[in-house]
Amino acid sequence: MKKFRQCLGKFATGVAVVTCTDEDGKPYGITANSFSSVSLEPRLILWNIAKVSNSLQAFLDADYFAINILSRDQEDLSSHFAKSDHTLFDSIRITRSEQNVPLIPGSLAWFECHTHQIHDCGDHYIIIGEVVSFESSAAEPLLFFSGKYAAIDTESPA
Ligand SMILES: Cc1cc2nc3c(=O)[nH]c(=O)nc-3n(C[C@H](O)[C@H](O)[C@H](O)COP(=O)(O)O)c2cc1C
Repeated sequence: MKKFRQCLGKFATGVAVVTCTDEDGKPYGITANSFSSVSLEPRLILWNIAKVSNSLQAFLDADYFAINILSRDQEDLSSHFAKSDHTLFDSIRITRSEQNVPLIPGSLAWFECHTHQIHDCGDHYIIIGEVVSFESSAAEPLLFFSGKYAAIDTESPA
């Protein structure tokens, strides 16, 4: 298991906080690097959620969710939303989309999605979303590689 995890960690990724709300409007957020694009037409993306996640039921029930891609200066938010805690949003400034999904200001990009398909897969569920709105900024990305945060210098000459 350790060797498999180490090997998977050699795939450098960005970092996202995936958000949704439950039927009472309570916000949920979870740090995830399993985000991937799936289809351009229709616009589909996916991410995976662990079956042990305390936020699992909220995401399985949610009609809408958002992928907030973190910028380089949002490492603290990544650590924050990697915790299991019901008060995670108490200290975080958010806005809400038209569908009442939490959006994190200062993100590199965000995708608001309608839940399209959910697949039961091993110890995770694959959640596929159809993108209904999206936005990006010119900020620098936060990266994750071999279990550590990293950054790239996008100013360097090729
Ligand atoms: C960089 C990073 C990437 C992560 N990616 C995922 C992921 O794709 N899916 C997932 O279920 N958990 C992922 N996790 C772990 C969750 O963030 C963490 O287990 C979760 O927030 C715990 O709270 P919960 O029990 O309320 O879900 C990741 C953590 C980090 C630090």
